[in-house]
Amino acid sequence: MNSDNDLQIAGDLLEVPHLLQPPREHPATVAEFAGLARAIAADRAQWADLVRYDATTRWYHRLRTGPGYEVWLLSWVPGQGTGRHDHGRSSGVLTVLEGSLTEHTRRGARTLTPGAQHVFAPGYVHEVVNDALEPAVSLHIYYPGLTEMPMYPAAHAGAHASPSCAARPVTA
Ligand SMILES: [Fe+2]
Repeated sequence: MNSDNDLQIAGDLLEVPHLLQPPREHPATVAEFAGLARAIAADRAQWADLVRYDATTRWYHRLRTGPGYEVWLLSWVPGQGTGRHDHGRSSGVLTVLEGSLTEHTRRGARTLTPGAQHVFAPGYVHEVVNDALEPAVSLHIYYPGLTEMPMYPAAHAGAHASPSCAARPVTA
């Protein structure tokens, strides 16, 4: 039984191209930014050979830029951390690629491992530390690109604040 309110599409929808949205070159939604991070994480050829470990300072590399956003690759040797900070007016997606990182917030601590993604809004305060015995690698997407990283006093014992974490460009 049909009525005027029924919509039926017969045949292959892909053969009706004017009904389909064109693929976007750049992400524009939270889900698309998270998807970009997952795609990069899954394609090790894009980043694995770029990673460097530096015991004297947190290492970072700008992997990609797009309209209003930046993608950063970071490495963390054991003990390295950000200090407690926010991200100014930037929102972000944090994705661990290798190893594990511990995130401290006022709600407590949690361990981030490969596959986990963490999305945060502007003004979100946290501290990220490599508490493990192995180096870690992470991917950070900021929208808009990170231009400031205000620092706060440590909120927990055992914080490992890197003196370089406020250097520009700032990432974490
Ligand atoms: Fe951060």
